[in-house]
Amino acid sequence: MNTIITGLQWGDEGKGKIVDYLTEDTDVVIRGQGGNNAGHTVIAKGTKYVLHLLPSGILWDNKINVIGNGVVCDPVGLCEEITRIEAQGISITPEKLLISERTHVVFPFHKELDAAREAALGDAKIGTTKRGIGPAYADKINRCGLRMADLLDRDFTTTTLERRITEANEVLAKFDLQTFEADDVIQEIYTAFERIRPHLANTIEVVHKAWKEGKTLLFEGAQGTLLDIDFGTYPFVTSSNTTAGGSCTGSGLPPTAIDSVIGVCKAYTTRVGAGPFPTGDEELSEYLHSLGREFGATTGRPRGCGWLDTVLLRFACMVNGVTGLAVTNVDGLDKYETLKICTGYDIDGTIHKLPPADRSFWDRAVPVYEEIDGWQSDTTGCTTYDQLPENAKAYLTRLGELCGAPIAFVGVGPDRTQTLVV
Ligand code: GDP
Ligand code: IMO
Ligand code: MG
Repeated sequence: MNTIITGLQWGDEGKGKIVDYLTEDTDVVIRGQGGNNAGHTVIAKGTKYVLHLLPSGILWDNKINVIGNGVVCDPVGLCEEITRIEAQGISITPEKLLISERTHVVFPFHKELDAAREAALGDAKIGTTKRGIGPAYADKINRCGLRMADLLDRDFTTTTLERRITEANEVLAKFDLQTFEADDVIQEIYTAFERIRPHLANTIEVVHKAWKEGKTLLFEGAQGTLLDIDFGTYPFVTSSNTTAGGSCTGSGLPPTAIDSVIGVCKAYTTRVGAGPFPTGDEELSEYLHSLGREFGATTGRPRGCGWLDTVLLRFACMVNGVTGLAVTNVDGLDKYETLKICTGYDIDGTIHKLPPADRSFWDRAVPVYEEIDGWQSDTTGCTTYDQLPENAKAYLTRLGELCGAPIAFVGVGPDRTQTLVV
């Protein structure tokens, strides 16, 4: 059974936790897109791990974790992450972590170019994570990027980088941002590259062999549907296909290899970075922040919070082909008396059941809510779905009805064990 785990909102739905939970019964975990803009928090056996580029299956022994061809990989960031996770007692061997030779490399100047682009946008900025993701994917599409396999040819890399850095410096100088010397960049990248070089592999061959042998594959999505370059709230999106299809193009496994798609969403909605957020609610944000929840794992920024938006979720279930939902953070709503669920957008008097493409529509979208009684009791100790309060079950049932997909998992706390199977 091969399963894609994909985010249905604006990221941070709890994908990492669900991937970690399912890895126990999985052989190979594969990341297919994004880079270290992702931040996946997993709590297991009392320890908190924050993962950015490492697949969330890395905490388990004897599992293969793949950074696929669709990822953009910052070698320096990856080395720091490996060192940090190893210091937490997790071994990261070449048998356990494989990096595709086709993975594009994020260079230090990509991060500065990310900052330059944001500065140029002023008030219209996207609020990126400044990890160089957009510029690295732009170089890939522009056919001037370098892949891990290219780094094996140092002369080729040096010539290409010298040219690319000259161009980048012209842009950076205009914004008074840091410019780069090719020699320094090469030295920094090769120091990191030497550490990760033993992990390079023809991952397409590896994943196909695993598939043909009937092994269980789990695809870990990064970001979420509304951040997808095609389906998201463009231009307030990231630079890759974060939806289920991205797992195929980002790994080399065909759609025929996929058996199911688990869409992960929170029981409410969050968004970090700029862009439309129809159900955003200041009171709910303040409440969740006061509980110490909803601060970004990558940048530490507070996430905006809002009510559950089933216009977005219905759309996300469609474009991902969701076969089951994993609803996390149900416990975040434990104390609320009355909960709101957005069932449509009122745009100039017409009710829309799917999100609009026209960006001016977003600003005029007024959420249509239905209210539902809260459960006002602690769910964090529930160990089975049946133990959930009746009103919590009613809320989840309504969510499933409105989205057109069955609930498969429910999260009632950040720990690996606080995952209920429906
Ligand atoms: P990801 O990027 O989709 O992997 O999600 P993040 O890890 O960035 O953000 C999800 C946050 O919610 C993290 O702090 C998780 O530890 C936490 N989390 C995940 N599921 C649950 C849950 O069911 N309840 C609670 N309280 N926290 C959860
Ligand atoms: P995970 O995998 C939440 C957001 C940024 C910004 C936009 C573009 O943890 O769910 P980028 O740096 O990608 O160019 O930023 O996308 N963003 C995320 N928001 N979770 C993420 O990843 C995100 N990755 C990028 O905040 O709005
Ligand atoms: Mg995250």
